[in-house]
Amino acid sequence: MNRLQPGFTRRAVLAGGSAFAATAVSGCGRTAVSQAPADAAAAGRLPERRIGNLPVTLIAQERKIALGADSGLTPAWIYGDTPFPVYRVRLGESVDVSFTNRLKEHSSVHWHGVRGPNAMDGVPYVTQLPVQPGESFSYRLTPPDPGTFFFHPHCNTAEQLGRGLVGVLIVEDGVPFDGDIVCVLKDWRVEKDGRFLPFITAEGASRGGSFGTLRTVNGLVAPEIAVPAGANIRLRVLNVDSTRIGDIGIMGADASVIAIDGNALAPFALDTWRLGPAMRMDIALRTPDAEGRIVLTDFFAPEPVTLATLVAQGPSKRSGAFPALAPVPFAEPDLAKAETHELKLSASAAASDYATLPPIVLPDGRTIDLLDTLCSTANTLWAIDGKPWPQNGHQHLPPPLMNLARGTVVRLQLANTTPHVHPMHLHGHTFKVLSASKLKRPQHWADTVLVLPEERVDIAFVADNPGNWMIHCHIIEHQDTGMMGWFRVT
Ligand code: C2O
Ligand code: CU
Repeated sequence: MNRLQPGFTRRAVLAGGSAFAATAVSGCGRTAVSQAPADAAAAGRLPERRIGNLPVTLIAQERKIALGADSGLTPAWIYGDTPFPVYRVRLGESVDVSFTNRLKEHSSVHWHGVRGPNAMDGVPYVTQLPVQPGESFSYRLTPPDPGTFFFHPHCNTAEQLGRGLVGVLIVEDGVPFDGDIVCVLKDWRVEKDGRFLPFITAEGASRGGSFGTLRTVNGLVAPEIAVPAGANIRLRVLNVDSTRIGDIGIMGADASVIAIDGNALAPFALDTWRLGPAMRMDIALRTPDAEGRIVLTDFFAPEPVTLATLVAQGPSKRSGAFPALAPVPFAEPDLAKAETHELKLSASAAASDYATLPPIVLPDGRTIDLLDTLCSTANTLWAIDGKPWPQNGHQHLPPPLMNLARGTVVRLQLANTTPHVHPMHLHGHTFKVLSASKLKRPQHWADTVLVLPEERVDIAFVADNPGNWMIHCHIIEHQDTGMMGWFRVT
């Protein structure tokens, strides 16, 4: 019935169904009312929009939304009117987004995982000036790779992302599945009455991060999502949470992993895949006949949690074998020619103070000397290679962690000296995960990789995208308290 090994306790959960998990997680079995689409076939789905080659406006604004059933309204910050807009383009089409900031603080849009030009990367003070309240910024890029991407702000991220500023960008490869379903995993740190809890806590920031109190998929607690029966479905799972790492699996269907962070790989049967913040996984699965149920489950905790249930509907499509994705377009990095860099991930209490650093030059030529307090950290708790992201009061950018000549093959050794997991993300480049000293997984291409406590992970990439690029932990409280740096490709 499913791909999980016999004897595995997780099998037992299936009987419990979604009501169990919704209760266990949120204390309520009902789902949100505000975003439920009227059309039953679209139940549980996010609103989607084709934006390829079309200019669109993206507005960041506060909207009160209903999340848990017995909670009051939550003052979310979202792109548009409902959380997690899904934008789709076909490979080769352009993204032309005019971003308008209607928040009370500055913001920007970073296109996570997209190998775009540096000037479009959306990092305040590094690739552009912040977009102030009432201002706009035009993002124009043509994503060079197909895949499952997302976008989010890049300063005061714990709060801005924590309040809901996330959208999905799908770059379609044209592979003909019978259905293409997006599942966005995000927890919310809310009180019972709907108000937000603090986004950064001393306890969380110095350890594994502050967890959300309400788990949702597509902004709904354990939603039921309609899917065609007897069909080959592509399920795109995005973990956009600031903190939670899941062991994501499927019950009730044969499922294969076909892409990680949007990058195709040789399909393998999904048992569970450890999906940290910012990581994505594309799954191919065959749906059962009508009324059959498939459960997207997190097996990380001793009590498995039902994230969402796919309910098969309509006549069986009787589809054949899964269609295959085209292999990734990246050249194998020539490790014999690689320049090796080690980056230590460590704790740090020290503030950064680099008084004599030269100013940073934005891609458009303007120079930046000091970061503001929204883009620097109140407390430095973490560092990369001994260099924490600057603390308020010492607001010069730190020196680059690496200076790379364009075309350099880089072998990067991420060495975690801390007792916490860090999902490490590089901007502007897609890397190959070569090996890890603890977590076993096939070699694959990614833009974010988990580094377990005391683990060493080796990755390789070709530094072929000129500019100043961030590298940071995607547990946002770690990012916002120092575990962030940048590297330069010239
Ligand atoms: Cu999701 Cu610096 O990025
Ligand atoms: Cu971290």
